Amino acid sequence: MASSYSTRSLFYLLFLSFSFIPTHSTTFEILNNCPYTVWAAASPGGGRGLDHGQTWNLSVNPGTTSGRIWGRTGCNFDASGHGDCLTGNCTGGLECTGWGTPPNTLAEFALNQFTNLDFYDISLVDGFNIPMDITPLNSKCAKSSCTADINGQCPKVLKVPGGCNNPCTLFKTDEYCCFKGPGSCAPTAYSRFFLVRCPDAYSFPRDGPTTTFICPTGSNYRVVFCPSRSSLVNLEMPASL
Ligand SMILES: *[C@@H]1O[C@H](CO)[C@@H](O)[C@H](O)[C@H]1NC(C)=O
Ligand SMILES: *[C@@H]1O[C@H](CO)[C@@H](O)[C@H](O)[C@H]1NC(C)=O
Repeated sequence: MASSYSTRSLFYLLFLSFSFIPTHSTTFEILNNCPYTVWAAASPGGGRGLDHGQTWNLSVNPGTTSGRIWGRTGCNFDASGHGDCLTGNCTGGLECTGWGTPPNTLAEFALNQFTNLDFYDISLVDGFNIPMDITPLNSKCAKSSCTADINGQCPKVLKVPGGCNNPCTLFKTDEYCCFKGPGSCAPTAYSRFFLVRCPDAYSFPRDGPTTTFICPTGSNYRVVFCPSRSSLVNLEMPASL
């Protein structure tokens, strides 16, 4: 009965393929609410210039891991998309093909992990250039945001034109980067500068689980540059920095 076996195997093969390949891509609505132009960039996804109020709807494949969206500022691109940016600069010009040059605020995501969970966060591990938030359009899931005036209050040693470096980018030591894994380092005065202003955001390479956000797969997301600022996060700079 070889033919019935192969028919059955074919059936299982098709069944398994369809049950493990999620069919819906995820949409990220990327909105620029800043009073200035932001050249949005996404990996995977490329890039697009957004004037104030403009949206880029980006479709991302199911199962994408290590996805990130950021904004670039101070860009000059010619008609063919060649050029560079003051912050968030990447290879590929307007159509980014790699990750941005720090400092740049990140919206990070991993879709459909552990069967049907999305993970997302706002991260400052590559520093800060633009206030951002990420909001699942499934209303049961929480927003992650960083809307404080990090650039205006940035400690002098971390400050660069258009942004504020994460200390790991600058010092490249285990104390700030936790190269050896959890427990090899502790929060520093510099990481606390970011943490107290943006408690939702991932500010330190071994930050705890409070800054990782989870939503059932199937939600779409809105990412906003310069969302309205929460009044809680306008702290004065500590004298020690
Ligand atoms: C993006 O998608 C949303 C929701 O589907 C839609 O309302 C909006 O018009 C779209 N915007 C653009 C620029 O395509
Ligand atoms: C931007 O990135 C491109 C490609 O890597 C590079 O050639 C250029 O020098 C960079 N510009 C700045 C301002 O960093």
